[in-house]
Amino acid sequence: MNLAVIGSGGREHAICYKLHKSKRLKKLVCIPGNAGTESIAENINEDLKNFEGIYKIIKKKNIDIVIVGPEQPLVDGIVDYLKERSIKVFGPDKFASQLEGSKAFMKELCKKNNIPTAGYGIFDNFNDAEKFIKKNGTPIVVKADGLAAGKGVSICNSIFDAKEKTKEILNGKFKSSKKVILEQFLNGEELSYFIIVDRKSYKFFGSAQDHKRVGEGDIGPNTGGMGAYSPSKLLTNSLDEKIRKKILEPTLNAMKAYGHPYEGFLYAGLMIFKDEPYLIEYNIRMGDPECQVIMMRLETDLLNIIDCSIKNNLSDSEIKLNKKKSMTIVLCAKGYPGNYKKNSEIKNLSFVKSNENNQIFHAGTYKKNDKILSSGGRVLNICSLANTLVNARSQILDTLKKINWVDGFFRKDIGWRALENNENNKR
Ligand code: AMP
Ligand code: GLY
Repeated sequence: MNLAVIGSGGREHAICYKLHKSKRLKKLVCIPGNAGTESIAENINEDLKNFEGIYKIIKKKNIDIVIVGPEQPLVDGIVDYLKERSIKVFGPDKFASQLEGSKAFMKELCKKNNIPTAGYGIFDNFNDAEKFIKKNGTPIVVKADGLAAGKGVSICNSIFDAKEKTKEILNGKFKSSKKVILEQFLNGEELSYFIIVDRKSYKFFGSAQDHKRVGEGDIGPNTGGMGAYSPSKLLTNSLDEKIRKKILEPTLNAMKAYGHPYEGFLYAGLMIFKDEPYLIEYNIRMGDPECQVIMMRLETDLLNIIDCSIKNNLSDSEIKLNKKKSMTIVLCAKGYPGNYKKNSEIKNLSFVKSNENNQIFHAGTYKKNDKILSSGGRVLNICSLANTLVNARSQILDTLKKINWVDGFFRKDIGWRALENNENNKR
């Protein structure tokens, strides 16, 4: 089969890596891809807003299935566009993509279906928002309604700050958002839970824990994700059952009732408090870097899984995840998530040996004259699969020592909560 993956991050490189292992794969195209995907797929440059351009590439390359990695083209309706032109595509349609594209849509869906989530108000004017803030006090969470590349959420500890952040959103700081969501602050520990969904059924696709803050010990500004591990230490059988029955199944049923059954990967960002799950957010795709750690554990042929899903035969397919632990540490450009330098050479990558247990997935990189150069804030994902998280981490840190990049930095403490909670560090 000929497949095309849309996107250019570590998530897309990890997806390409798994597809490339399939015996059924004939041709793999990545639009636009990065220096990592270039070694296993044909990279073709195209603006992800240009659906017509993407369609032309897909026709020219005789692509059987298109897999969409990032949220923006999904929210913009790429699935609808391609399906209208008889292209098979894996991902939710524009309507269903509102689960991530509009926090107001997601919160209203929760309310109508009794899905546990933080109490909230949705506002399009400052006076009403201010009243809500004063009535509810702090801490309070202020969110932009639309996509904001991970920058649209602020946890505010003062009324002043909450009002300022609300004003910024209502004054159009994020072009995608005219509304502000004010939310009750939830205590607990976060868990990322993934499923793959077709029109008839859904299957568990792994759990993970991301590290969003830039600094060690989870301090500093939010980022797209500085590192992750899988599986999450929080997921027990009873919690799993609650997540399915109280959150996921009511959501999938609601989407069916809207006439837009969900299809594709679905990522629930959950807060776990006293063994009860609360939905913080939905993402309509795999997480990045969570995808990388789940792909390290995936034992089933990814192409078969996606092919089954496209044919609505998911219930017949088995999804096997290795019981070992996987971790990724993201090597970033100094200055990220603020300003950072681009086009800086990353040396000695060829000294790193990769195998089933150790992989580097590229994110913001490109190749020029046989050199690997940086092009983004999150640049490389160093991944390892091992019997314990401690071993996975030390393997990654060894790999990082071999890479010579003066303009890079990373967090050495990924997985610290899981490791600290376990006296023997045996996890
Ligand atoms: P979101 O983009 O909605 O996932 O929010 C980004 C991050 O903000 C989440 O991963 C949480 O760490 C935090 N967060 C969002 N909403 C809440 C909430 N209601 N209570 C506590 N933390 C939250
Ligand atoms: N790592 C968080 C996300 O992909 O949304």
